Amino acid sequence: MFENIHANKTYKTLYNGNWIQSTTKNTIQIKSPANNCLVGEIQSMNKEDIDKTIINSQCAQKTWAQTPMNKRAEILHKAAVLLEKNINEISYIIQLEVGKNKSSAISEVKRTADFIKFTADEGKHLKGETIGGENFPGFSKNKISLVTKIPIGIVLAISPFNYPINLSTSKIAPALIAGNSVLFKPATQGAISGLYLAEIFNAAGIPKGVLNTVTGKSSEIGDYIVTHPDINFINFTGSTKVGTHIAKIAGMVPMMMELGGKDAAIVLKDADLDDAAKDIVTGAYNYSGQRCTAVKRVLVINSIADELIAKMNPLINNLKVGSPFEDADIIPLINSKNADYVQQLIDDALNKGAKLIIGNKRTDNLLYPTLLDNVNTNMRIAWEEPFGPVLPIIRVNDLNEAINIANASEYGLQSSVFTKDINNAFLVADKLQVGTVQVNNQPERGPDHFPFSGVKASGMGTQGIRYSIDAMTSRKAVILNLSNN
Ligand code: NAP
Ligand code: G3P
Repeated sequence: MFENIHANKTYKTLYNGNWIQSTTKNTIQIKSPANNCLVGEIQSMNKEDIDKTIINSQCAQKTWAQTPMNKRAEILHKAAVLLEKNINEISYIIQLEVGKNKSSAISEVKRTADFIKFTADEGKHLKGETIGGENFPGFSKNKISLVTKIPIGIVLAISPFNYPINLSTSKIAPALIAGNSVLFKPATQGAISGLYLAEIFNAAGIPKGVLNTVTGKSSEIGDYIVTHPDINFINFTGSTKVGTHIAKIAGMVPMMMELGGKDAAIVLKDADLDDAAKDIVTGAYNYSGQRCTAVKRVLVINSIADELIAKMNPLINNLKVGSPFEDADIIPLINSKNADYVQQLIDDALNKGAKLIIGNKRTDNLLYPTLLDNVNTNMRIAWEEPFGPVLPIIRVNDLNEAINIANASEYGLQSSVFTKDINNAFLVADKLQVGTVQVNNQPERGPDHFPFSGVKASGMGTQGIRYSIDAMTSRKAVILNLSNN
């Protein structure tokens, strides 16, 4: 099915339903973080390519907007079937390209097929409203507003490396079902996975030009795309640094931003420490911590901290370290720059007096799971997002201190609170400045129909299927002014 998207692993770009080379004929090599082998080469597109592609997206969107919702839904359902049918090949590409272990890669593809089906069905519930003028003083029944939800135009979907299929689809599918065309810019490391995804939609029958791809160095084309006057919506997931930059330069264009996180796990005195230990270890070290919703700090009441650490230690020690192809839990980080950064945070904490419980061992980009105790707020790891397998334990005296430290973060994505006291759970949830509070569970985005949002430096807008569809539509009002007789 995918033979037309590349020639000898030199991948093309999707333009007007066909796979073509860029004008530059230049390519970017993508190597696997898992084994450093060449995964393939992607087109290094230039501004000329982008202009041509956006014109094509614009033309295609006009017809797509007139396509009946049930037809759009039918095509999305076909895409879900094709994705499931090709799960082995696509999950292998994910493992190769972003180093995700086999079971997580398979789970990502299955989750995405479900995402597409749910989105197709949810689109059929997209509805407008009618509002009577008499609801407002001075107006009568003769004035009625008929409001419909219409597509917004071209959606620029920019996705991160860590969920190359799911976090691309979380933008593409809702945008398509709403009648928009999509210009899809995958992360460079993750682009090949993204191109396979684009072919899934293409083969399912998305009309030519309704989904086009853009690949290339963000340093060369990134700012050009986000400031292009014909882009009608920017749907971005990635780091706070890049998201903030885009928000500053993009100007008057609606956008949705899902950015960085520093999710805290708050453990109170009455918590079930066995459950808390399991959830925190899974939440912190899955995919080597390369998840926005990873547990990135533990705020634990001092009197139970030793007991919690004693329960976490063997669980961390049992994590399998190695290759994603052998389903290891801890796999090489996406690149050496990220690995160096994580090591810097560990070194800074240890130099400032943190206690090493386990880890601080590295082979190239493979960092062993690391747990640091006695971390204080003078250490960088207390505040910065490592995006790696390191977890700081910050001991606190009481619930208020935990809330204050949690809220002092620039980030506000998710937090967890572990307690058996429902009143304390709601008290903490009420005071935390985050998009979501998990009670007795690790932070996580799923299920994908739940609202998922970040506040402060963690983003703006709300992801989640129904919310994403609504965000990528606009309201059109037609007002009837009936005569008095
Ligand atoms: P990143 O470096 O910010 O890149 C994200 C995307 O932005 C990539 O496609 C990247 O393309 C693109 N990009 C970079 N500079 C750009 C520019 N000037 N204009 C347009 N696009 C540009 O993030 P990442 O390393 O892929 O992902 C890790 C980060 O994303 C972490 O901070 C994590 O917390 C966050 N994240 C958040 C969520 C969430 O839902 N809140 C989910 C996943 C990840 P290139 O690859 O070509 O540079
Ligand atoms: O970093 C990706 C973010 O969306 C995490 O998703 O489902 O693993 O919590 P999830």
